Amino acid sequence: MAKSFYITTPIYYPSGKLHIGNTYTTVLCDTLKRYKQERGFDTYYLTGMDEHGKKIETVANERNIPAIEHVNEIAEETKNLWDKLRISYDDFIRTTEKRHKTVVQKIFEQLLDQGDIYLGTYKGYYCMPCESFYTETQLEENHTCPDCGRETTQLEEESYFFKLGKYQKKLLQFIENNPDFITPETRKNEVVAFIKQGLNDLSVSRTTFDWGIKVVSNPKHVVYVWIDALSNYISALGYGTDQNRLFEKYWKGEEVVHVVGKDILRFHAIYWPIMLMALDVPVTFKLHAHGFYMMREGKMSKSKGGVIYPDTILKYYGLDELRYFLLRELPYGGDGVFTPESFVDRINFDLANDFGNLLNRTVSMINKYFDGKISYQDETLDDIDKDLQNTIEEVIVSYKENMNTLKVAQALQEVWRLISRTNKYIDETMPWVLAKDPEKQDVLEKVMYHLAESLRHIGILLKPILLNAIPELFEQLNIEDKHTVWESLTFGSKRQYAVVSKPTPLFPRLDTEVELKKLKDAIKGETEEKSVEESEKMITIEDFAKCDIVVGQVKSCEKHPDADKLLVSQIDLGHGKTCQIVSGIAKHYKPADMVGKKVIVVQNLKPVKLRGILSEGMLLAGTNKNTQEVLVSTKLNPGDKIK
Ligand code: MSP
Repeated sequence: MAKSFYITTPIYYPSGKLHIGNTYTTVLCDTLKRYKQERGFDTYYLTGMDEHGKKIETVANERNIPAIEHVNEIAEETKNLWDKLRISYDDFIRTTEKRHKTVVQKIFEQLLDQGDIYLGTYKGYYCMPCESFYTETQLEENHTCPDCGRETTQLEEESYFFKLGKYQKKLLQFIENNPDFITPETRKNEVVAFIKQGLNDLSVSRTTFDWGIKVVSNPKHVVYVWIDALSNYISALGYGTDQNRLFEKYWKGEEVVHVVGKDILRFHAIYWPIMLMALDVPVTFKLHAHGFYMMREGKMSKSKGGVIYPDTILKYYGLDELRYFLLRELPYGGDGVFTPESFVDRINFDLANDFGNLLNRTVSMINKYFDGKISYQDETLDDIDKDLQNTIEEVIVSYKENMNTLKVAQALQEVWRLISRTNKYIDETMPWVLAKDPEKQDVLEKVMYHLAESLRHIGILLKPILLNAIPELFEQLNIEDKHTVWESLTFGSKRQYAVVSKPTPLFPRLDTEVELKKLKDAIKGETEEKSVEESEKMITIEDFAKCDIVVGQVKSCEKHPDADKLLVSQIDLGHGKTCQIVSGIAKHYKPADMVGKKVIVVQNLKPVKLRGILSEGMLLAGTNKNTQEVLVSTKLNPGDKIK
């Protein structure tokens, strides 16, 4: 029976358009799946969308549409993109689907029943763009997020916690016993060092927003987005349901690989195996964390602009150009940079000159010297031929080793070593000289045969990557299917060639100047396009006028009975009106200091209960450089309107 191979991408946040950075992971997994399929594995490829969380809720609110409508739209767009890129995924999971939600709820309740999860209070700082909580000591200057540098919000809320620490030893032991669990090695070392610092209990539920999966036994809580998201890798296989055939087959099969970017390493290398251990599900996966694609100007972000999108590349160039560039330019374990120059060079030098031209010359020469037909010749083999044959053998071995260890850029480098060797073979054998000597006809035919066989091998190795060019190459060399498969990778296994009468270039050469301009404009253009999007966040004077802001005077003030940080003030709004406001300023003001203060009040905010006490508005305050909250005060009188 065929061995199984289950591969997954992270599930993407529907928070913006996917750029070539996110696309890289999906293309990489697609390539690995195709390779494994070629090697006879029974494969299953999962990708999808991570659709819950405050960030998504906020994006949908900004667009003024229900969150589900927003995520439906992006999921559709994403699927269209993957179709255009011919991504061969077998399943596309969305965390808003019932099949996923049920499993997450079941997992959560089980962990709760077992005592791995308990109810407590969360105090910390939340970074919305990163969907992450930090303790005060983890923050950068001015309470900014250590990962993205943006401002964080201080929160205190009831929360469920996962006892990660309970599994710390077991996880370290597991990593030690499975040295290839996390690759590359440097990432593994980061993880081990992190675990050794000690794992704190992890907050795994939220009460501050709704857009998530509800905790069944306490529905005011939604499940933390990472517990929700990570479960997709097994919920999609039917784990925990009657329909668990795929789970039994692929999760418990021979190879399970999660490919992720380095930014989400910790979630996958720590939380996920611990969740599985707690659930008593075998930790069968291997984790590969790759580096980032950057732009010359720095990091790519879905919301920052100045990036390049896969659609743009598809519009101007082809699918193979995009796939080849992405896979070739990101070094194993490191980061890569997309520059218009490197992109155009890769197409012109690697694809058009080295590879495309080799096919072109070979087909032309076989036509010119032998009317398109040649057959196996070995009577005249010499050192140059043997050297080419040896290179073919060596490259097959190293390609295989690299692909098996997910080093696709290195595998490609090896194939290009063979391409260069084959080009050099033409220079060394000089067919145009041999052609002039009627005595050398058999030598010339041997040379042509070596070229065709080398190209056939190159084609088989590049099949998982160049989805259009390789079938085209097989067609131009007129190779029947049985000689285009991995099993036929033996020099001499195809004995005769009858090639097409006229070659067509696989990759047209690009005019460097024209293409550089086009790409640079596209990157800039998209910056502008993004700025328009950004400008949608701006408000008009009419929007501002919706805020009803007046001057108020504090009549009385007391501490909130259940929260140290909150004060409850009774405020005179003039014209006989009063209101009650709860504000988080107890660290900076004593109740007695508040009485008599003139303050600025937003009086038409929707009332909310804060720790059980009604708050009917908001006091405006600023933060000074000592990060003290200072109330904005005024010489105006209660009831005066601020415009
Ligand atoms: N939703 C989470 C993943 C949950 S998986 C259980 C998430 N989503 S994401 O949309 O923000 O990112 C998805 C993937 O894209 C991550 O692997 C991330 O590392 C990767 N990349 C984001 N920017 C990237 C580059 N510039 N370059 C390469 N990969 C990048 O994280």
